[in-house]
Amino acid sequence: MNGSEKPLLEIKDLTAGYGPVTVLWGVSLALREGEITALIGSNGVGKSTLMRTLSGLIAARSGQIQWRGQSIENADPADILALGIAHVPEGRRLFGAMSVEDNLRMGAYLRRVSRAEIQRGIDRVYAMFPKLAQRRNQAAGTMSGGEQQMCAIGRGLMSAPRLLMIDELSLGLSPLLVEQLVDALIVLNREGLSILVVEQDVVTALELSSTACVMDRGRITRQGASSELINDPGVRQAYLGALTH
Ligand SMILES: Nc1ncnc2c1ncn2[C@@H]1O[C@H](COP(=O)(O)OP(=O)(O)O)[C@@H](O)[C@H]1O
Ligand SMILES: [Mg+2]
Repeated sequence: MNGSEKPLLEIKDLTAGYGPVTVLWGVSLALREGEITALIGSNGVGKSTLMRTLSGLIAARSGQIQWRGQSIENADPADILALGIAHVPEGRRLFGAMSVEDNLRMGAYLRRVSRAEIQRGIDRVYAMFPKLAQRRNQAAGTMSGGEQQMCAIGRGLMSAPRLLMIDELSLGLSPLLVEQLVDALIVLNREGLSILVVEQDVVTALELSSTACVMDRGRITRQGASSELINDPGVRQAYLGALTH
């Protein structure tokens, strides 16, 4: 990061957890505007907890979260969403009995814009994911996993975010669908959207992202250019074991 460029999101010494259990033990991380950042790490290290803390679903116990220079570590989820941070949670969490289109509409519930503007947002999501347009009146819970992930990402986009956080992008999806989602994220990123993505498939994660950070037991232990991390012996051994030669 060059000296004059302020991070989009800056996290310092963040601790958080559930009841008596501490999960985040001092997370420090800076995200640059316009980048796709991958968050990788084994199961249970705290990736989802970090995203939940960033989106205000879990209270920070200590530390700072600065969003474009503003402290948000104690802000409400609705305020954080309105500031431009959207969260596509693990397991999508759609309203299963509601139609695709109503789920998309829910993503815009905080926006004070005209119906026409919201309809334009919905149409943009349909242009990106034509499958959703075909299924606009179908109950979201009856769609395939991949279609649900498209709908969840579309719902996130409906809040007109600056940063889209996606937890477990590809979990349970076919390679073809993952490719479609990756292509869509690359297009969105080219249009200016910053993205933080948790992705179990480290090869996909490092190919999609420009920067990557590795999380281990509640801390960020590595951060660097994805193109460098993919060749890092430690990363390869820990996460790409089968590919090491
Ligand atoms: N709702 C919860 N209540 C209590 N503990 C939780 C809860 N969610 C996650 N944890 C615990 O927090 C730790 C980190 O979980 P999580 O953030 O989901 O990790 P990851 O997303 O990296 O797999 C785990 O030990 C998990 O058991
Ligand atoms: Mg998780």
